[in-house]
Amino acid sequence: MVGNWKMNGNLRENAVLLKAIVAGWHGQRNADVVICPPFPYLAHAATVLSGLDIMIGAQTVSEYEKGAYTGEVSAEMLADLNCKFVIIGHNERRRMQRESDLQVAEKFVQAQQAGLIPILCVGESLEDREKGMHLQTISRQLDAVFDLVDKSMFSNAVLAYEPVWAVGTGKTATPSQAEEVHKYMRSQLDEIGEDVRILYGGSVKAHNAEQLFALSDIDGALLGGASLDADEFLAICKAAE
Ligand code: G3H
Repeated sequence: MVGNWKMNGNLRENAVLLKAIVAGWHGQRNADVVICPPFPYLAHAATVLSGLDIMIGAQTVSEYEKGAYTGEVSAEMLADLNCKFVIIGHNERRRMQRESDLQVAEKFVQAQQAGLIPILCVGESLEDREKGMHLQTISRQLDAVFDLVDKSMFSNAVLAYEPVWAVGTGKTATPSQAEEVHKYMRSQLDEIGEDVRILYGGSVKAHNAEQLFALSDIDGALLGGASLDADEFLAICKAAE
């Protein structure tokens, strides 16, 4: 379960949200739970959540190791701050920051080299979905990473399928749409496909989480809006038990 706070919160609001999560937390037996605050709040969240079985992740990382890249944050720096995970290739960054498939693949490499677990996001636009080209888009996004790393490296990675048209829109992919893509992604990973964790992201809320988690190819969720509400977030984590 990955909560992506995106560019939300401040010290005061985060303290309230984290306090409510800590108060309602009863431990998680069957899932890894990760919270991904914005960069400036990583250390604060890590401190508040230390002692709980909730890990910290970042929302992106530089494709470079170090050097004159003003404003960038390296994978080593994230590891230094006790991050365990990093989201890579989120559709908002692919679209708004124009991150290319190659840059996403380079970020994947940097993350693994620093000992972080990349959460690689892939997903099609509404246009691709309507043209029936969704699997081709996913294939292209995955192939860019396969060009740089051996598929066996995915045993230390998480995949997230996020149909762009379902993110923050209230529209969720139907169970059969999500299952089709998740199965396809496993098939692209050859023999390790069955063991790789594949999350679904896109308007997952407490009311639809259980139905999604019941599907055999959906291993968890990448949560946006729902991760900003402690009750909603805790209820979804509970649905994963
Ligand atoms: O990173 C999270 C995904 O973009 C899903 O966001 O749950 O607000 O639709 P959402």
